[in-house]
Amino acid sequence: MAQEVFDQVQLVLREIEGSQPRTEDELEQFRIRFLGSKNIIKPLFGEIKNISNDRKKEFGQLINSAKVAAENKYLEINEKLEEASLGRSVEAIDLTKPGFPIQRGSRHPVSIVMNEMIEIFSRIGFTVAEDREIEDDWHNFTAMNTPEDHPARDMQDTFYLKNSVTRLLRTHTSSVQARTMTAQKPPIRIIAPGRVYRNETISARSHCQFHQIEGLYIDKEVSFADMKQTLLYFAREMYGVETDIRLRPSYFPFTEPSAEMDVYLGLADERSKKLTKGTGWLEVLGCGMVDPQVLENCGIDSEVYTGYAFGIGIERSAMQRYNISDIRSIFENDIRFLRQFVSA
Ligand code: DAH
Repeated sequence: MAQEVFDQVQLVLREIEGSQPRTEDELEQFRIRFLGSKNIIKPLFGEIKNISNDRKKEFGQLINSAKVAAENKYLEINEKLEEASLGRSVEAIDLTKPGFPIQRGSRHPVSIVMNEMIEIFSRIGFTVAEDREIEDDWHNFTAMNTPEDHPARDMQDTFYLKNSVTRLLRTHTSSVQARTMTAQKPPIRIIAPGRVYRNETISARSHCQFHQIEGLYIDKEVSFADMKQTLLYFAREMYGVETDIRLRPSYFPFTEPSAEMDVYLGLADERSKKLTKGTGWLEVLGCGMVDPQVLENCGIDSEVYTGYAFGIGIERSAMQRYNISDIRSIFENDIRFLRQFVSA
């Protein structure tokens, strides 16, 4: 009796070893027969109780080896069939077909000009300082020598935040001057590029948002001549090696003396004539020696340190360079407009 059961298991084992499922259906038949819930090995386990004690272990091992053999064979054949079907699907792909075209993106004209300016100043040791667009009254105005009720606040029509008397959208990147000077000790040599906001009526020439780059240099014995030379270098890198500049006296609350810088484009072509209103000179930035009061407001000893600052409007340069006549197209995100700068 015992030997008979042993023989039965041997038969099952041989059957497992001998079977060679070639398709997924055949493999499924194999699984049902040897591993399914009604598989033919299961009842043999029930025979253990009829085996004499001295052979129980041997029987157990034999029947277990049948089960393991079925599992291994199943896994092995399954893997082979999967590989084969993968191979067939790879063959089905036509590798000679052209790919799907990917549209090339492009830089925005404002970014192109901004990056170029950053590069020019980086070459002479200015580092980039970035800060928040939602500013407080103090950093945007008061620290920059424009206290409340000062008529100079009218120069920049401001968006104040609802529910806050002190929060506003910065009207110029000069606020980063105050942020930097209150956080760092001189020498300070930074440029601060970024977006600014003013409550302007939107038209072809003005917008409620635009971009500036602020420059600030504070150290011992910084002079007006240093500023002029730095700005001449900037103008020649940006507009050409022969470019001339002129500084016209001006007024800003945070600089004394203050100036506006023009670059000479000439009157050779109609475009330059129009752009410069017949003068040949194009205004590009405001600048000046940092007012000692601004240094003191920010905790820097004005007896020891001096400095200069400047603020450049980016849109104007971008519009001049790319012949853009309406500032609104810069902010409309019309893909037909933006695509024109792909190779730039
Ligand atoms: N903040 C000024 C503006 O928005 C520009 C400016 C002028 C910045 C003179 C400066 C400066 O740093 O020295 O109109």
